[in-house]
Amino acid sequence: MSLVVRPCSSVEELRDALVISHYFGGDNRLEDAQWVSTVLRPERMHAAHQDGQVVGGAGAYGVPIWLPGGRAVASTGVTVVGVLPTHRRQGVLTAMMRAQLDDARARGEAIAWLWASEATIYGRFGYGLASLSAEIDLPSERAALRDPAPGPERCRLVDHEQALATMPGLYDRVAARHAGMVGRDRAWWEIRRLSDHPFRRGDAGPLHRLLVHRDGVPVGFALYRVRRGLQHGITQSVVKVVEVMGVDPAAERAAWRHLLQLDWMARIQADCLPVDHPLLLWLAEPRYLGMRLADGVWLRLLDLPAAAAARGWGSDEALVIELSDPFCPWNQGRWRLEGGTVHGTDAAADLRMPMDALGSAWLGGFSWRRLVQAGRAHAASEEAVDRADRLFRTDRAPWCPEVF
Ligand SMILES: CC(C)(COP(=O)(O)OP(=O)(O)OC[C@H]1O[C@@H](n2cnc3c(N)ncnc32)[C@H](O)[C@@H]1OP(=O)(O)O)[C@@H](O)C(=O)NCCC(=O)NCCS
Repeated sequence: MSLVVRPCSSVEELRDALVISHYFGGDNRLEDAQWVSTVLRPERMHAAHQDGQVVGGAGAYGVPIWLPGGRAVASTGVTVVGVLPTHRRQGVLTAMMRAQLDDARARGEAIAWLWASEATIYGRFGYGLASLSAEIDLPSERAALRDPAPGPERCRLVDHEQALATMPGLYDRVAARHAGMVGRDRAWWEIRRLSDHPFRRGDAGPLHRLLVHRDGVPVGFALYRVRRGLQHGITQSVVKVVEVMGVDPAAERAAWRHLLQLDWMARIQADCLPVDHPLLLWLAEPRYLGMRLADGVWLRLLDLPAAAAARGWGSDEALVIELSDPFCPWNQGRWRLEGGTVHGTDAAADLRMPMDALGSAWLGGFSWRRLVQAGRAHAASEEAVDRADRLFRTDRAPWCPEVF
């Protein structure tokens, strides 16, 4: 009856631990697990065994996360978490989270983060809502730009190899300006972003790769698919935007201009957009974006000093925080933050918070003012809240452009 959680040691074991496929309606074939293992290494997949059966699995990508200030730090991207429906609510997830976070800490990963299927699951493990994610569903006839004049940029469609040669460098330049993006290696690009596997296509057609040039130099890109539709001879086709990046606003606008003006489309749909997306200001009729907000990534710190050293700070002022983190007690206590360094202290706390609230503030998604107002953190004084907000200040909303 005893439950044992251990990392997988082969692709076969990884396949068995992909219990989540039960909920995705997948076949869970070995060839799919082989494909997945290119980015999700078997030793980063924890399997829960009971009575000779795998009853749960929890995966982790060892990926950098980009932080405010333009630097990235080693992180744990939690993924494919699932427990068999016959074994739910018996503590299997809790045992896997324990093993996974201890393993990640031992590997020196400073932050753990994830997309949650349900917002109620991960708060108990110290994860706080760290970013919001917007989706749009825009009728093409309402997609006019306020200022429709084209810039000097030119667009061209490229093949897989050309995309792989240019897009990663452009992405890294964008990521340095947006906290919350995944640091991608070549395998990630091939398997997760540029792949045209049927699983990635869903109900749409092949992947189109658009490169934006200025003076012959690549400055942006768009990845998109078309979902064909026709009714009574009238198009119902949809542009399904996968991702748009530009190294500056004009480059990003040129890519969006291409997508908004594609002929014979009825709608433009995109998700995983930042809440401060410039489309709200570019469009003549932003109301028709039909922008909807949902929770984006959830985040917790594993190593406060390492995460603080990697983050850019809005001021050099000192702040004493009192942190509670029962699931990872090494983080608990009073810490003095100053100039990117963190030391244990006995000084009185300016702010008290649980780990999930610190996670909500880390990428700049929520100010301390909002967290205190919502009762998620407690401040010794108004001045302390202002000081904390100057310290944690960021210019842009955090943005994770992909669900992992
Ligand atoms: C979500 C899931 C992984 C939970 O696994 P589990 O083994 O049942 O979780 P545990 O038994 O360890 O539960 C730990 C605690 O979380 C709570 N909990 C678990 N799942 C929850 C949910 N979906 N909503 C609210 N609370 C939940 C439990 O009630 C328990 O609370 P308690 O400690 O106060 O008793 C499992 O139900 C599952 O596989 N669901 C479908 C796939 C899925 O959604 N995966 C998550 C992908 S991000």
